[in-house]
Amino acid sequence: MEVDPRGAQDAGLPVCIAHRGASGHEPENTLRAFARALDLGATWLELDVHLVHDRLLVIHDDTLDRTTDGRGPLAVHSLAELRAVDAGSGERIPFLEEVLELAAGRARLNVELKGPGTAAPTVKLLQAEVAAGRWQPGQLLLSSFDWDALKETRQLEPALPVAPLMGKGAGGEILEVAERMEAEAIHISRWSARSRLVAAAHARGLAVRVFPVNRPWEYDLMVRLEIDGIFTDFPEQALSWGALAPELV
Ligand code: G3P
Ligand code: MG
Repeated sequence: MEVDPRGAQDAGLPVCIAHRGASGHEPENTLRAFARALDLGATWLELDVHLVHDRLLVIHDDTLDRTTDGRGPLAVHSLAELRAVDAGSGERIPFLEEVLELAAGRARLNVELKGPGTAAPTVKLLQAEVAAGRWQPGQLLLSSFDWDALKETRQLEPALPVAPLMGKGAGGEILEVAERMEAEAIHISRWSARSRLVAAAHARGLAVRVFPVNRPWEYDLMVRLEIDGIFTDFPEQALSWGALAPELV
């Protein structure tokens, strides 16, 4: 059975998506953070990928400085050097394959395409996972602030769902873009979440998911706005407030 991205809206409550894993508890975008999110009951994980030396690395920034004990841009380091840095609590920067292996059959996965050149290799990897029977297309979701990257994934593999991302902004254009690429949702920042935009998205059949939502009053506002999903660093909190853990199959 395919996952219904709008199911949560029908229940009137948003689904919970673990943002960079359980990143409020463990170093973000590490296997430890994803395992912790699963332990805490999350059934939907979000992560960020960059392409470096033809490999997809799970890391938010294009430099090592903020999240590891290394320094400088990812691209100036060899893969061996990138894998040797400490991403927190002794964790390595994961390859996307490692998260796919960890979460298969246990969670949905939102792969956010961060760096240039990520679309084609990500699609290729996900296609292989689907062909091997480890993942279903409906359990996977590609998102990006780079809407052209998502258009590329649509051309390469229309079975993989997509959702354009938007930070702070007015918001009208994202609806046209999402509709044209037959996205299942828009992913927007909390500061862009307005009832008019949500209503307009729903009228076009688009789910609306919001990041970041970490505090109870933020969550309550999202429920009032009829938001369909929230990205949170503390999945167990959101689940305790009533957010839903979507079923996989
Ligand atoms: O995908 C939602 C959210 O992760 C987008 O912003 O900066 O946390 O990747 P960021
Ligand atoms: Mg992200």
